Amino acid sequence: MKNYIKIHNKIKKFNKNINVSGDKSISIRCVLLASQAIGNTRIYNLLESEDVNNALNSIQKLGVKYKKSKNFYEIAGLGLNSFNTNRNIELNAGNSGTLARLILGLLVNSKRFVTIKGDKSLSARDFSRITEPLKLFGVEIKSKANKLPVKILGSNFLRPIKYEERLGSAQCKSAVMLAALKTPGITKIKAKKSRNHTELLFKSLNIPIKIVKKKYFDYIEIKGENNFNGFIYNVPGDISSSSFFLVLTILSENSKLTIKNVNINESRTGILKILNKMNCKIKIKNRKMYKGELIGDLCVKSTNKINAINCPKNLNSSAIDEFLIIFLVAAKAKGISIFKDLGELNKKESPRLDIAVKFLRMIGINVLRNKNDIKIFGNPKLKLDKKYLVNKFRKDHRVVMMSCIAALTLGGEWKITDADSVKTSFPNFFSILKKLGAKYIEKKK
Ligand code: S3P
Repeated sequence: MKNYIKIHNKIKKFNKNINVSGDKSISIRCVLLASQAIGNTRIYNLLESEDVNNALNSIQKLGVKYKKSKNFYEIAGLGLNSFNTNRNIELNAGNSGTLARLILGLLVNSKRFVTIKGDKSLSARDFSRITEPLKLFGVEIKSKANKLPVKILGSNFLRPIKYEERLGSAQCKSAVMLAALKTPGITKIKAKKSRNHTELLFKSLNIPIKIVKKKYFDYIEIKGENNFNGFIYNVPGDISSSSFFLVLTILSENSKLTIKNVNINESRTGILKILNKMNCKIKIKNRKMYKGELIGDLCVKSTNKINAINCPKNLNSSAIDEFLIIFLVAAKAKGISIFKDLGELNKKESPRLDIAVKFLRMIGINVLRNKNDIKIFGNPKLKLDKKYLVNKFRKDHRVVMMSCIAALTLGGEWKITDADSVKTSFPNFFSILKKLGAKYIEKKK
């Protein structure tokens, strides 16, 4: 417990405009694709967080140079075959499942073994979901019990695969798409719906890709071995980071907030649909399209009339990183909210379904759990006045942020350990809280 946050006061009413940092999924994809392009890429508003830093360090270790200028990062790509893997290399993905899994896709043509390692949380997560499809391309992969460290040795004779992605994991889909870039012939993917940033980037880079969208699955075909040029990209704000401030506003009194320039790609807006169904109306202004990504300003107000929800399962994937904070809204709703089929939540940076159930019970909310389904018995009058300790959550950044929002809106005396884990995805989280008037005591290492 070397660093922590103490919160003893609810936030007072606020009326502000904010910007959140760049989208994490898009930032990591831009860095990885820039490393494969021919020529320089400029990325504006790249998220400056530990996960993205680990992506930059990884491509640098593989011989791709980058530099930071005042407003952008410049990455000097040398094409699809340019990673320098003539020696044994070890890459550190830190906390990032996205980086570890996506970069494995780019290593299918490595000349020597490349080792991917990660922090404690990432080393507890399963990698078979991605090593199994990658092996089909003809590469060699070694790991113990399908956990990190994973070693990959590429092949000179890659063969295109047919792959069915059934988990709704954008990481798995994207890793296979990146491997397909380096593979002769056409790789065919049938993927359960999940975020589609990789597809949109491929399209905007004129990489040969065909996509047929059906109700539950997308059919994707990628023709490999086509080099593409460096590009310019301006990363929009992250809806997952925004979600904490949306809920802070909803659960505070008489407050208003506008979050500018947020990515509202349909495959990410489950939280908006869920909150709207719960009577927390969020208006979208200034909609615009940028390289296939929809962007807008999110306008939200406090409400004390929150309805319970029977959450449709088809929203699970597009809200996958937001359930912790959605459960907090359900805790203050009138009635019983039902969420189903959330097994994937336990596969994240921490076992989030288990942690959410414990957390809700700690704040006095009745929760019924049946395997991967939960019922949350909301209490619109919920007010807290006891002491609460949040610890043992594998330093999951989203658990820290959700706990801070609970503390600032529900009352009580809170101590939240490992608060610096927000650096994984959202280093500005606390400075934005401060701007909105939140009071907290920060104990650094
Ligand atoms: C991500 C996909 C999701 C999400 C993660 C980021 C991505 O994971 O939870 O935070 O950038 O592709 P899965 O693909 O494993 O569902």
